[in-house]
Amino acid sequence: MQITLIPIRPEDIQTASDLLFEASEWAPRTPVNMDPVPILFAQNSVWLTAVTEDKEVVGIVGVHGISFPDRSGELACGVVPKWRTQGLAKTLADLLHTYCFDTLNLHRLTSTCLQDSPMSKVAFACNLVLEGRGCHSRFKNGEWLDTLSFALLNPREV
Ligand SMILES: CC(C)(COP(=O)(O)OP(=O)(O)OC[C@H]1O[C@@H](n2cnc3c(N)ncnc32)[C@H](O)[C@@H]1OP(=O)(O)O)[C@@H](O)C(=O)NCCC(=O)NCCS
Repeated sequence: MQITLIPIRPEDIQTASDLLFEASEWAPRTPVNMDPVPILFAQNSVWLTAVTEDKEVVGIVGVHGISFPDRSGELACGVVPKWRTQGLAKTLADLLHTYCFDTLNLHRLTSTCLQDSPMSKVAFACNLVLEGRGCHSRFKNGEWLDTLSFALLNPREV
């Protein structure tokens, strides 16, 4: 199956909003009044829709909190329910990294993940560098969980 990233379209905003809201389950800190809209419409963010050859939407990816002077940004990834547990999160993450480096010309990508979250597993699988650990950042289901901070540098600039 061929998956491509296209600029997010108006009809994809609800899916993106739903995925961002769902992602709060894995947020490094317990979310309070989680509102996806400011994240999706922030000027320093780029959101893309992942589609199959038939233009079926499989997920939404993005880079947000972009610092233009530093050419850095924070990664985000979501897969729609129908397409989950097939390894697509890593596929979308790989496509997003390539897009960020080759199309947006970013230098440094970061991924801030709750320990044992799906995206922390994807970060390891995509060979992001584990730069740090924030101990006991979130109290979830009766236990303290850590934050893992990953980064990936543009391979053309290391
Ligand atoms: C999280 C999400 C992107 C995973 O997508 P997916 O395509 O099902 O993920 P994959 O099949 O590629 O699995 C990636 C890894 O995460 C693990 N994983 C997937 N869903 C998981 C879950 N609900 N709980 C714990 N681990 C999970 C998989 O086992 C796999 O780990 P492995 O490589 O060690 O086996 C998808 O469930 C989603 O979009 N959720 C809503 C938004 C969200 O939570 N975003 C990310 C926040 S961390």
